[in-house]
Amino acid sequence: MDLLSLVFCVLLEALAVYCQQGAEDRIVGGYAPVPHSIKYIVSVQTTNRQHFCGGFLISQFWVITAAHCNIGVEKMLVVAGDYSLSVYEGTEQEVLPQFLLPHPQYNYQKNNYDIMLIKLKSPVYLNSYVSVVLLPRQDSAIPVGTMCRVSGWGYTSPTGGPLPSTLRTVMLPITSSAACNSTSSFNGRITENMICAGYNLGGMDACQGDSGGPLVCDGRVYGVVSWGIGCAEAQFPGVYTAVSKVRSWIDSTIYSYYSKCKTL
Ligand code: ARG
Repeated sequence: MDLLSLVFCVLLEALAVYCQQGAEDRIVGGYAPVPHSIKYIVSVQTTNRQHFCGGFLISQFWVITAAHCNIGVEKMLVVAGDYSLSVYEGTEQEVLPQFLLPHPQYNYQKNNYDIMLIKLKSPVYLNSYVSVVLLPRQDSAIPVGTMCRVSGWGYTSPTGGPLPSTLRTVMLPITSSAACNSTSSFNGRITENMICAGYNLGGMDACQGDSGGPLVCDGRVYGVVSWGIGCAEAQFPGVYTAVSKVRSWIDSTIYSYYSKCKTL
């Protein structure tokens, strides 16, 4: 290696280190996980590879995301095994959706039943970068105060700015629905199909771009990132679709697909 190349390499290395440091302060109050340690998460992208929502794998053929992430089956692409969206890591698996099944009772004005099943055209391969996650049983309750993990590629600051390119994650406690629904908080807008998670003082939360992503408690996805008021604000925790309230819909929908062999 000649001197010029050496100097160039040293500069590149310095730049890489510098860029990684920039990556540390991503997330509203969270941190970057060990790369590929959160294997069930997917990035839901436009067909020209713009990330716009999160999601998670429940089997090789099925992904769950938020119903408000529905931009049309022809416009969507699901990427599993990703960590940095801007770097080709060789671990990514890109699959096209075959069809979308938003919850039939989804109400976009009230954000009620904000959940959607995505049937993939081809299976993702499960390996050390890609895995599935368990769901809670129908109507199982998750105690207030349980610490849960939410992850995503959404905004790292409530004021927006550029989307982060690496995955980020944060642990949040489940808050009581009564407090979340009180006049000093969401004032009656929390239905029984929603759960809230976050701190009273704010500071940590999901944000725009994290929608559809998983809130995992005790190894199961109890919540799907759905909505909020701003991000990480005091008194306003994040609002998640309560997966335990729609578990039987998920099961019966997938079951009827396989039993009738129709495309629903
Ligand atoms: N609706 C947002 C999205 O589409 C997610 C908002 C979550 N907000 C929050 N404060 N937890 O990405």
